[in-house]
Amino acid sequence: MHTVDDVLALLDQLFEERADRWSDRGGTDFWDAFYTDRGRGVPFFRDAPDESLVAWHADGRLPLGPGTRVLELGCGPGRNAVWLAQQGCAVDALDLSATALAWGRERADAAGVAVRFVRADVLGWRGEAPYDVVVDSGCFHHLPPHRRVSYRWLLERVLRPGGHLALTCFTTGHAGDGGTEADDLDLYRTGSLGGGLAYGPDDLRRAFDWLTEVELRPMRRVRDATTYGEDLLQVALLRR
Ligand SMILES: C[S@@+](CC[C@H](N)C(=O)[O-])C[C@H]1O[C@@H](n2cnc3c(N)ncnc32)[C@H](O)[C@@H]1O
Repeated sequence: MHTVDDVLALLDQLFEERADRWSDRGGTDFWDAFYTDRGRGVPFFRDAPDESLVAWHADGRLPLGPGTRVLELGCGPGRNAVWLAQQGCAVDALDLSATALAWGRERADAAGVAVRFVRADVLGWRGEAPYDVVVDSGCFHHLPPHRRVSYRWLLERVLRPGGHLALTCFTTGHAGDGGTEADDLDLYRTGSLGGGLAYGPDDLRRAFDWLTEVELRPMRRVRDATTYGEDLLQVALLRR
């Protein structure tokens, strides 16, 4: 090992391939299979944006509109990307899964908006930065602990000063339902990521202590057709 990248790549190998939901090693096959059956009632398969994005836009804390460049990390079938494009934003939306992206393109066509969907590992993304807004709904919590370092490098590269990160991830307190609450060392000892990591509010503050908190709160559980919200998640709006 000679570089930090070598160290990170070695740490990747400490997780079983079937635990990998964050890279081309195991994650791409996992997510392609996950999105193949659209009718199995997965809550976030619903074509509705995160309630938090809609709320922050409505109260003016997340400016969106023509001229706003947005990068979505782990966009899945594009429910947020399409809504962001409907607000007039220029949206680049990345995901490991070609199956998810094909679904996203169908949704964008049906909505009559343009979204640039790209099959990519976000951690290796070398697109045209900077962006005004980075959106991540459910991608960050699939990264193993050491990849928070890569994620920070990514944000430092793509998010302009003054720009916003809008994040949605598993929260603690929903054991068995949301993500695992095992501590970092135990994750490496077991070689499992338990389907995603649950973050407490202070864990998130620590992970993003170089950004300014605008709001960090539990996601609101909503059951209407126009927005998506589950209480096993939390949301954060952070400004660079
Ligand atoms: C829980 S799903 C959420 C999908 C979408 N954001 C939504 O909320 O509907 C997580 C998504 O992150 C994607 N993902 C995970 N790691 C990734 C990576 N390193 N690069 C690109 N996409 C990734 C997966 O393919 C999957 O579609």
